[in-house]
Amino acid sequence: MRKIDVFDTTLRDGEQSAGVNLNFEEKLEIARQLERLGVDIIEAGFPASSPGDFKSVKAIADLVKGSSVTGLSRSVQSDIDAAWEALKGGVDPRIHVFIATSPIHMTHKLRMTPDQVIENAVASVKYAAQRFPKIQWSAEDACRSDLDFLVRIIEQVIDAGASVINIPDTVGYITPKEITHIFSYLKENVPNMHKAKLSTHCHDDLGMATANSLAAIEAGADQVEGTINGIGERAGNASLEEVAVALHIRNDFYKAATGLTLKEVKRTSSLVSKLTGMVVPNNKAVVGNNAFAHESGIHQDGVLKEKTTYEIITPELVGVSSNRMVLGKHSGRHAFKDKIRELGYTATDEQINKVFKAFKELADKKKEITEDDIFALMTEEKIGA
Ligand code: KIV
Ligand code: ZN
Repeated sequence: MRKIDVFDTTLRDGEQSAGVNLNFEEKLEIARQLERLGVDIIEAGFPASSPGDFKSVKAIADLVKGSSVTGLSRSVQSDIDAAWEALKGGVDPRIHVFIATSPIHMTHKLRMTPDQVIENAVASVKYAAQRFPKIQWSAEDACRSDLDFLVRIIEQVIDAGASVINIPDTVGYITPKEITHIFSYLKENVPNMHKAKLSTHCHDDLGMATANSLAAIEAGADQVEGTINGIGERAGNASLEEVAVALHIRNDFYKAATGLTLKEVKRTSSLVSKLTGMVVPNNKAVVGNNAFAHESGIHQDGVLKEKTTYEIITPELVGVSSNRMVLGKHSGRHAFKDKIRELGYTATDEQINKVFKAFKELADKKKEITEDDIFALMTEEKIGA
């Protein structure tokens, strides 16, 4: 079984979500929960970006013992110095240094030639290597970069001391088939690729971040980056909980697994949602409120007979106590009868038929029938618990 390292950037890329601003205590609380979840690397922030970020990255590096803590740095010495000051107290300090490699970014943002970018990347990795035992290097906008240029620059940053090479899809542009090609190409063509791990970092602008991350893993990525609930810049990052659970459930296919403690997933998701104020959509895979809810009569009947008919993930796996039968207009007699029993009623078939008819009439007028509605219906029909 291949082990896939999980690099969580909820506190860095995730905090770049519009409208999110976590305070010091909130960041520490999230870091503690990420450690409990078992992520391998926590990107705690961008130390050179503000005194507040520096302070929280330092506190997290000093506090967390079960995960490696990292911080982002541009390819400039002052950023690398700030990152070292913030991270040096950690158990396994590493730096995450990046520079853009796509023609669009090099021309318009950096205003540098490709050779200048290589020179700068190599110099910053060498500078970082004077302090940091581990260096992750990222080619920003890698998925819109020239592949042979990527091969050249990656070979040289590995020689300079980088041990993890991250290939971000910075603008969420790539498709699964294309990312497979990029990872396979790099594995085959970078002569010293075996000396470093390859990492995938996908954004969700076209809704493909999870699929792209899984495709990269299939093509040989050793590390996956993302955030809890998929929060992040613009449409967000890959949802780590989705990737980890997909690898677990479709282990037969991927033959790879993360080391996450999956039963901490729901708790982590709820905490991140509460502290960031980013509401998790009800239909969100794995952690949405409806992820384990069944509404239609056909589905409810199937699940009550045998859960695997309509549940591919057990709620317990991700720390949800049980599935949920939602009583609504599509619900059937089977689920209704079950609910009545669960509420402590012993009704005859004739009584149930009568209340079921009243229930269906009410369900046509309401989205969801609550327990209080059922109590009222039972009282109307004079059925006691
Ligand atoms: O999306 C991106 O390119 C990034 C880099 C800074 C790694 O977040
Ligand atoms: Zn990113």
